[in-house]
Amino acid sequence: MTTPWAQRYAQRTQRMGSSVIRELLKMTEQPDLISFAGGLPAPELFPVAEFEAAAQRVLKQHGSKALQYSTTEGYLPLREFIVEKMSQYGIQASPENVLITSGSQQALDLIGKLMINSGDLILTENPTYLGALQAWRAYQAEFTAVPIDDNGIQVDLLEEALCGGPKFMYILPNFQNPGGVTLSLERRHALVAMADRYGVPIIEDDPYGELRFEGNHLPPLVVLDADKLNGEAKATPGNGHNGDEAGFFKGNVIYLSTFSKTLAPGLRLGWMVAPKSVIQRCVQAKQGMDLHTSSFVQMVAYETIKGDFLPRHVRRIREVYKARRDVMIGTMLRQFPPGITWTWPEGGLFLWVTLPEWMDAAAILPKAIAKKVAFVPGAAFYPDGSGRNHFRLNFSNAQPEQIEEGIRRLGRVLAEELEMTAELAYA
Ligand SMILES: Cc1ncc(COP(=O)(O)O)c(C=O)c1O
Repeated sequence: MTTPWAQRYAQRTQRMGSSVIRELLKMTEQPDLISFAGGLPAPELFPVAEFEAAAQRVLKQHGSKALQYSTTEGYLPLREFIVEKMSQYGIQASPENVLITSGSQQALDLIGKLMINSGDLILTENPTYLGALQAWRAYQAEFTAVPIDDNGIQVDLLEEALCGGPKFMYILPNFQNPGGVTLSLERRHALVAMADRYGVPIIEDDPYGELRFEGNHLPPLVVLDADKLNGEAKATPGNGHNGDEAGFFKGNVIYLSTFSKTLAPGLRLGWMVAPKSVIQRCVQAKQGMDLHTSSFVQMVAYETIKGDFLPRHVRRIREVYKARRDVMIGTMLRQFPPGITWTWPEGGLFLWVTLPEWMDAAAILPKAIAKKVAFVPGAAFYPDGSGRNHFRLNFSNAQPEQIEEGIRRLGRVLAEELEMTAELAYA
């Protein structure tokens, strides 16, 4: 008799579903289909030659170390590099505050493993990153979601959600996935103050912050939080807030980032910055997952970026993505029918389209795929499954000519759909 496997799965798996994005990507692998669906960086910008040379150097000079088991915390020179890099953004950490993860997706899972009890409430933006919902649903989290607008999460609507006693807030401050919007400075200050007042920590997920094409860089929440707490500590000696640590990291924020968008996602290399005590617990949790992130990959990545390569490379990525965003928005302005609006991201990989309320992006997708263009319907990004009249477009992956052609195709699909559904809506 073969095992009825489904009967063996743990109860918590009932809320695990396969990611809509992954399933979609399978459908969009036809060569002549133009996909704006995935969150894929531009592959032609991957520094293949630099990696090849770095891999050879690593194998020649440190081959046995690179291929050996290693520490869970991560390769120390890489953690030191990250500390230095983050200090340019005002984040004052030491290597003990940094854990290298197998992509920031693993950091999200680690946080779930460490913090979420069945039924715990997590406060997210509405919409939010699908991968976080997916990771935390597996720990039987419940979600309370606060809407975003062009300036990020609407902090004036936060209080009610905070009163529900969430375990933590999950915030994407820069070029949010999927919305493409950035949290304003004023709201950053307000958010940090509310987190402190309600005693609700923040998970700040920042994979896109370095990919700003225009406008001014805004301080990370982790920095504003530290400034606030340090100011208070000075004003009230002995007001220690998690005061087990001297220096910067005694705050309410865990900060996540990744090399996926600035180097290559296939490396699976991200990092978490947190108070030392949290890092130590995450190290224990990570040991049960994968012992450590690939030593070889960490060493090759470090060997690639240790000079001045990364800032030059990131400048190039910004130029290319900005040009692609401009082509996408320029073509949308010409080709999309009236009544459809979208966000104007100052960086990152995505923009977010809003259809008239009666339209359903998921119902339009098969028609778009039939016309050889794809996007991600919005509902999957809403913890409560609302947001049917939205969809996400990625502008980093396709070439400019493909973007123009894809948006033209999509414009035609939307015009037809709008005409048809408007008649029904007003009938
Ligand atoms: C907001 C957000 N967090 C985390 C991730 C996961 O990134 P990584 O490739 O580092 O696992 C992504 C990937 O698209 C993302 O958009």
